[in-house]
Amino acid sequence: MPDFGSLFSANANNMKASTIRELLKLTQKPDIISFAGGLPAPDVFPVEDLRAAANIVFDRDARKALQYGTTEGDDGLRDELIKFESKQGVTIKKDNLLVVSASQQALDIVAKLFLDPGDYVIAGRPTYLGALQAIQSYSAKVLGIPFTDAQDGFDMQALEKRYAEAIAAGKKIKYIYVIPDFQNPAGFCWSLEKRQALLDFAYETGLPILEDSPYREIRFIGDPIPSMFQLDQDGANKGVVINLKTFSKILAPGTRMGWIMAAPALISKFVVAKQAMDLCTNVFTQMWLAEYMRTGKLDGVIASTREKYRVKRTMMTDALRKYMPNRDDIRWTEPEGGLFLWVTMPSFIDTDKLLLKAIERKVAFVAGSGFYIDEPEHNSMRMNFSYSSLDQIEEGVKRLGAVVAEAIREHEKA
Ligand SMILES: Cc1ncc(COP(=O)(O)O)c(C=O)c1O
Repeated sequence: MPDFGSLFSANANNMKASTIRELLKLTQKPDIISFAGGLPAPDVFPVEDLRAAANIVFDRDARKALQYGTTEGDDGLRDELIKFESKQGVTIKKDNLLVVSASQQALDIVAKLFLDPGDYVIAGRPTYLGALQAIQSYSAKVLGIPFTDAQDGFDMQALEKRYAEAIAAGKKIKYIYVIPDFQNPAGFCWSLEKRQALLDFAYETGLPILEDSPYREIRFIGDPIPSMFQLDQDGANKGVVINLKTFSKILAPGTRMGWIMAAPALISKFVVAKQAMDLCTNVFTQMWLAEYMRTGKLDGVIASTREKYRVKRTMMTDALRKYMPNRDDIRWTEPEGGLFLWVTMPSFIDTDKLLLKAIERKVAFVAGSGFYIDEPEHNSMRMNFSYSSLDQIEEGVKRLGAVVAEAIREHEKA
């Protein structure tokens, strides 16, 4: 094949293969205990009920399911999504909804609509890698905002300061990206006060908030805090929040199905952006999930997912207490939901290097540096607790504790 490299777009040259996804391939060997991926536990997938729903669609409505659909999404599925949201106190109509091929497509749609080369998106330090990739693929940049020590949201003073500096330097900021519920990678959950403060910041600055909520329903301890979408809706109702939801963590990621909730004028623009990508979301899958949702069994799946993950998260934090060297500079988050926790190491430990040692001992995590675009921090790691069995969690953390203890000994010798 001729070398077409010189013909690629500037955007293509800004697209970076995710080092994390490359590394994940290494960690997928069967004898490695991997806390690296972000996979749900496969035993929560309701295989038989999903099979029955698929059969009903084929028996009753095969020709519709095999035809093109509208870009906005299948009416039956949108009716079910409206009911699902209303049970959580969110009131939406069909014109607030766009069905998408899961949240990752939504991140791309939003970036495509808002970003010109050189624009900025405000996002947390650290934040979800796939959102960073979407932003970079439109040659845009990130204005990174640290979280408070209490890990309850952005450091608002830092936000105000960085925002003012960026505006004074002539930077164009287009939106604010946040994952308020059990953030990927660190498991942080925003307090009500911080959610309201960010909403007020959005009102003042005229910026939209992109609220990414894949883990919102996976709260296994405590009571839910209203989403920013809800707070806006129940308050000033200015329509500044774009909320992304997905079936990936509440049902099964292989469905590749999610939805965007936003003001109707924004949804219309997203529809046009999506048309150039795929015309419409997979019609069969939409009808299949609508049929499944009509059985009323999704709530039960979410409840049992929460319970499983509560037990696994507790197992992991207990194992960390048992096996990690006992030092003030080794800490971890204890999230009340989601799939991940975040471990911070002493500043002399570089987790990119530690990972190679860990893989030798047949245990893997994701080094934290991949979750920053600018000035990465090098002494943290993301650990997934949803996928491994309880025995693997105990054994894997034990191996990791030994790797960390060795790294500390080596540092002390040097
Ligand atoms: C914060 C966040 N947003 C979006 C996604 C993408 O999810 P989906 O499977 O819905 O595309 C993920 C996946 O892990 C995620 O963690």
